[in-house]
Amino acid sequence: MKAQHPTERGEAPAVLLLENIHPVAAEGFRAGGAFRVETMAGALSEDELVDKLGGVQLLGIRSKTRITDRVLAAAPELIAVGCFCIGTDQVDMNAATRRGIAVFNAPFSNTRSVAELTIAEVIMLARRAAQRSMELHLGRWQKSAVGCMEVRHKTIGIVGYGHIGPQVGLLAEALGMEVVFHDIVRKLALGNARQVANLDELLATADFVTMHVPDTELTRGMIGRAQLERMRPGSYLLNLSRGSVVDIAALGEALRSGHLAGAALDVFPEEPSSSRDPFQSELCGLDNVILTPHIGGSTEEAQRNIGLEVSEALRDYALSGISTGCANLPEVQMPKLADSLRVLNIHKDVPGVLSRVNGLVAGMGVNIKAQSYHTRDGIGYLIMDAERTLSRGIGAEIAALDSSIRTRILNG
Ligand code: NAI
Repeated sequence: MKAQHPTERGEAPAVLLLENIHPVAAEGFRAGGAFRVETMAGALSEDELVDKLGGVQLLGIRSKTRITDRVLAAAPELIAVGCFCIGTDQVDMNAATRRGIAVFNAPFSNTRSVAELTIAEVIMLARRAAQRSMELHLGRWQKSAVGCMEVRHKTIGIVGYGHIGPQVGLLAEALGMEVVFHDIVRKLALGNARQVANLDELLATADFVTMHVPDTELTRGMIGRAQLERMRPGSYLLNLSRGSVVDIAALGEALRSGHLAGAALDVFPEEPSSSRDPFQSELCGLDNVILTPHIGGSTEEAQRNIGLEVSEALRDYALSGISTGCANLPEVQMPKLADSLRVLNIHKDVPGVLSRVNGLVAGMGVNIKAQSYHTRDGIGYLIMDAERTLSRGIGAEIAALDSSIRTRILNG
């Protein structure tokens, strides 16, 4: 960045938080007085963003604000966008990366929320409790123990043992369940959980099969007719991961034939885009099938966690250049050394960049105290702490290198 950055001019960085982001985010920025914060309740259109972002360094959005290349071009001082939500689809990531703008999100803030709903649904299915509730709402008193059981000593099979899977396993174990899991990667098993050799072994072993995999080419349709047939008669399927993972038509058949005793689905191949649109599925009306509208991660706690996690990431990035958890730029983290000047340089990953930057510093007769560096998808990111005697003018010299995309200088 060739222009002088606001922090160089001695101004507190300006933060704009849109879309009613949880108040903990604004509170965090205001504490300590290091930032100027403006909050807005709604999203802004592309034109409004172009008008508004001129002096903004940190922008917080949720899922309704679209950050296009045109918006980024109109925000020369913007160093980072915080998506206070799970995904980053609303941001033109290529444009952000090309301009050296960091994008942060909070993909794992709702892990516990999903795990809790999964366990709740395991018990609801085992006791046919959702079905009994629906019957009672219709005035039908169906008091019966037939087909109802405790979950203690039953086996839960977790497919995908990343963030959510192990949490489900630990909660299930606390209920006295046996836990087996399958993952394409060898994983450290928590508690008494056991990794099985493959999906087929899990399907043949588990009373409850629960899906916690991402949406990839490998997972699309990974539970189809053949897999459902391999599940134990009278077992249950839960999917709180992605709608593409389960073949709904095949699941419908397995439920109608009585091979499966029930299912719980929170995600669907096609989901209404708003509460005004109707929901349709061939699973509607089937016995002992719990349907929820993609609310696995939707809790107050998850919203608060997102507010804390993303605002902390933005603050760390603004004040010390640490990019841990960044969705697009290389992740670099280095404790800030006292009594030093910190140089941050995002650049094109071409040969010789480090030696040119180091050469400029050495040319000023100044020692480098520490350096950390990483590359990702054609972009390099360097954090360097040099002796405080280094002139801040080094920023302009590094920024003038052909390779440089963005350069910032921070006090140690
Ligand atoms: P994660 O990325 O931490 O873990 C996914 C695990 O699945 C990884 O361990 C990976 O190795 C494994 N995996 C990938 N492909 C596999 C395959 N073909 N077979 C077996 N294992 C495979 O993801 P996390 O955070 O645990 O989330 C899991 C799923 O839950 C994601 O699809 C996510 O989108 C979804 N989710 C749903 C929410 C809801 O509201 N219902 C909320 C949050 C997440």
